[in-house]
Amino acid sequence: MGKSKFQAAIEFTKNLFTTGAFTETSRGVEVEICAHLPTGPNKIVVEFGMGYGNITREILSRLAPDSKLYAFEVNAEFCKTVKDENLDERLVVVNDSAENMNKHIEGQVDGFISSIPFTFISKEVGDQIIRASYEKLNPGCYFSQVLYSAFHFKRFEKVFDESSKKVLKNIPLEFIYHCKKR
Ligand SMILES: C[S@@+](CC[C@H](N)C(=O)[O-])C[C@H]1O[C@@H](n2cnc3c(N)ncnc32)[C@H](O)[C@@H]1O
Repeated sequence: MGKSKFQAAIEFTKNLFTTGAFTETSRGVEVEICAHLPTGPNKIVVEFGMGYGNITREILSRLAPDSKLYAFEVNAEFCKTVKDENLDERLVVVNDSAENMNKHIEGQVDGFISSIPFTFISKEVGDQIIRASYEKLNPGCYFSQVLYSAFHFKRFEKVFDESSKKVLKNIPLEFIYHCKKR
């Protein structure tokens, strides 16, 4: 079940400088951001910015039974809440920053789903996360990112081979960047 949207909004607001948001992303984002997830057997998917796991649940509902999801989250309380739920055996909750991904995952990855707030992350660290993710991605796979503006799109476009963005006309507007490695 997770936290109610209302409880999540209180906790997100209390931690605004790391969450970068007042509320969880919308149902529309949960669906659209998963549009390019790999559905075949034995895939490795990585989520950055799990929060209370609203997108995490959508990812798990689409992955094959023998696939695995590594969900990174810097907030220890969010991690504890999701871990205590024992959501799914395929889920590995990692209480660490996206920039340390390579310490936790050895091989290549078949997809990234990210909602980390690039506006609140230094340019240097943000660019390192984008570059390291591109390098870790298998060819033909996607890095999908949700943000509340189109401002950072160019940074992704520079690194990935094909990039597009969709706008969900909610309040606030939600932008999803789909970035592919050829
Ligand atoms: C906008 S919230 C999104 C939460 C949830 N996935 C959703 O869609 O509503 C961003 C989340 O990223 C986490 N976060 C921020 N910086 C991070 C980083 N460098 N690595 C991992 N998680 C991070 C925050 O603590 C927060 O839970």
